[in-house]
Amino acid sequence: MNSQVKSSDALKPASKEPLLFTPLRIGNVLLPNRIVVAPMAMYSAVEGHITEWHLVHLGARAIGGAGLVMMEATAVERRGRVTPGCCGLWADEQIEPLRTVTAFVKAQGAVPAIQLAHSGRKGSRVPPWIHKNQALPPAEAWPIVAPSPIGECTKTVHSLSKVKTVIFSLKIISVWRR
Ligand SMILES: Cc1cc2nc3c(=O)[nH]c(=O)nc-3n(C[C@H](O)[C@H](O)[C@H](O)COP(=O)(O)O)c2cc1C
Repeated sequence: MNSQVKSSDALKPASKEPLLFTPLRIGNVLLPNRIVVAPMAMYSAVEGHITEWHLVHLGARAIGGAGLVMMEATAVERRGRVTPGCCGLWADEQIEPLRTVTAFVKAQGAVPAIQLAHSGRKGSRVPPWIHKNQALPPAEAWPIVAPSPIGECTKTVHSLSKVKTVIFSLKIISVWRR
């Protein structure tokens, strides 16, 4: 047994291949390489439902050879969206289209992932290409909830009790389990 092996040796690839292109194990998930597509909100969903846009956007990254493709911030409840175009996973009908994306990403050899999210005080605003930080007009707005009443973009924020905040965290976990 070689007692001279350092822990940093584990990061060294066996071949001359650049480390970036070598597999990486995270728990029981094996990435074929270390290129990770960060979650990028596309503001192209309809009532939280993803569209062909998302299949093409994420599928193209998988075809391109990324090791992991992360689905954009996906709200666990309707009022947890940042904008009306944000993705959601609060209704059963939202599951199947996401499955189509994950199946396609997997078929390209990449690992699909999702960023479950709640916008909190950042919610109920217009898409950033209309304005970077602007609340939705009252007719389209929805009530905003967050752990504290600190607002943004002159919106009223309803602060949740600690108990409700914990319940929300559990909600994110329960959506993840599904
Ligand atoms: C168009 C766009 C959408 C983004 N959407 C999200 C998002 O949904 N969730 C998130 O955590 N970060 C989001 N980000 C931030 C990116 O995931 C990333 O953290 C950021 O671009 C910095 O990455 P870099 O340090 O590699 O440049 C977004 C960035 C861009 C450019």
